[in-house]
Amino acid sequence: MCGIIGYVGKKCTAPILIDGLKRLEYRGYDSAGLAIVSDGRIASEKAVGKVKRMEDAALAQPGFMKLCGCGIAHTRWATHGAPSEVNAHPHFNMDHTIAVVHNGIIENYQDLRRRLEAKGCKFASQTDSEVIAHMISEAYQGDLLAATAAILDQLNGTYGIAVVSSAQPGLIVVARKGSPIVIGLGEGENLVASDVSPLLPHTRQVIYLEDGDIAAITAEKVDLRSVKNVPVEREVAKIDWDAGAAEKGNFAHFMLKEIFEQPESIANAIRGRVDHELGSAILNGMNLSPRELAQITHIVIAGCGSSMHAGLVGEYYFEDIAGISTSVEQAAEFRYRNPIIEPNTLVIPISQSGETADTIAAVREAVQKGAIVTAICNVVGSTIAREAGRGVYLHAGPEISVASTKAFSSQVVMLLLFALRLGRNRRFSRSDGMLLANEIERIPELVREVLAQAPQIEKIAKRYAHNENFFFIGRGCLYPAALEGALKLKEISYIHAEGYHAAELKHGPISLLDEHHPVVALANDIPGKDKIIGNIQECRARRAPVIAVATRGDKQVLEMADAVIEVPPCSRFVAPLPTAVALQLLAYYTAVERGCEVDQPRNLAKSVTVE
Ligand code: F6R
Repeated sequence: MCGIIGYVGKKCTAPILIDGLKRLEYRGYDSAGLAIVSDGRIASEKAVGKVKRMEDAALAQPGFMKLCGCGIAHTRWATHGAPSEVNAHPHFNMDHTIAVVHNGIIENYQDLRRRLEAKGCKFASQTDSEVIAHMISEAYQGDLLAATAAILDQLNGTYGIAVVSSAQPGLIVVARKGSPIVIGLGEGENLVASDVSPLLPHTRQVIYLEDGDIAAITAEKVDLRSVKNVPVEREVAKIDWDAGAAEKGNFAHFMLKEIFEQPESIANAIRGRVDHELGSAILNGMNLSPRELAQITHIVIAGCGSSMHAGLVGEYYFEDIAGISTSVEQAAEFRYRNPIIEPNTLVIPISQSGETADTIAAVREAVQKGAIVTAICNVVGSTIAREAGRGVYLHAGPEISVASTKAFSSQVVMLLLFALRLGRNRRFSRSDGMLLANEIERIPELVREVLAQAPQIEKIAKRYAHNENFFFIGRGCLYPAALEGALKLKEISYIHAEGYHAAELKHGPISLLDEHHPVVALANDIPGKDKIIGNIQECRARRAPVIAVATRGDKQVLEMADAVIEVPPCSRFVAPLPTAVALQLLAYYTAVERGCEVDQPRNLAKSVTVE
């Protein structure tokens, strides 16, 4: 949530910052702003809404786009204070000599604000972030790094900040506690950002700040310290994503591009991880010996949103394939309900970004309770990946669309590989393992076959897009796929959509059905299909239009449903994947038909870094 970019070097600063903000817009799009230190003053611009509006305002300021030196910028997802120009970052001290951008939440800002106001400080905004600018100003005695370091221990909550001062041109100070900051190392220039995507056009060499780190960054040097002012060394990591991976290319939206990338992103998740000889999976990042794996008695999966839905599919896998009892926790509840973690409990946090606040808290709780923790993340070097200590990466490339698609499918694949590995440690035979390994290798092709049907799915989407309520129903490991299908539809098209276990309809929700309330029924030809057929009949009897997902050539479903999306035949373990992809396309085309902002749905932001 919220994006930060900063640049120090010789180039014109505003175009670099604005381009960076556009690449970060998926982190928040309530307002945007930037501050550039040039000619002994700080020039700034802010606007409510998308970065484009702020860019237009900057272009209208004579000479603004030609300012060179150093600057910081921010795109906001509002927490404290409405989306407005005054609440947009950067925030300034009273004489406009210090500018700050901040991600995170300062929990004690009201106390800090009262103290500063009592001393005569005038605030311009309602944000929690503005206190930081005034506090640094108060502590400033000619050294921005020292002034920033001096105030950090008074801030309760989380922060990733970047600070500039007109008194020290060519310098950006950054600090991190709980909200990521990455430094991009260039030639005669350096950058800072809240994630790597805006750095890709400039450099692949990055340093991830750890909590408690603070750094002074000039064009030539990065001076990295702890808040106690002790120099610290951090590894320089190389990002292997290419710049094009974070661009839309010929696709109308990032979401569509990412949906179509899935054969490749899934292949990346699988590559080198299937052991055909042993009918097993190779997951070196788990870093657990066969003996340790054999001792696991319970699995707890924690995640939020789509990542939690992937976990729910994983629950079926671990119980069915590996015979290990598994529970799935909403990460937001995990630490508050004091979960029972026994010595041989394996906790698997799942997170695309690796920065979701609740999932981070779940990791910390699990580590603290002595669990074996092994994470599934996409973003390399993210907080969850680092704090879990062991885990596997999805290698799905950057996911820019706010609605998760390729990360979800890769998470499911990773859980299937994981279950196969654990299953082979227990009751799953070599021959069963070999069959499943072959099925896993087929997934990219199965997904490709679904993608080839995009035009048919688009037609179905157009036919039903005017409805305001949808149910998605499924059974077995297609039940979580129904939950995920409903989430995708509601978040990008603003249609009210609910996912239910098909058997649950009769326990209440069925009373809502009528001819204006379509039901998407996941009727793939896998065990449980006969039951779903019964549920489809029940919906039709209430005049609800039924859109079925069915196995190619299934005449029974074809005759019964009002519209059918065909998926290729596959085993029950693999079925959630082609099905989820079909539902992603259905949601996408529905949202397009309704004229929605597909990549940046209202009120949302990618990476929920606050509780
Ligand atoms: C929905 C979606 C969200 C995320 C959730 C967790 O399309 O993207 O529900 O899945 O915010 O995010 P990560 O996986 O980054 O922890």
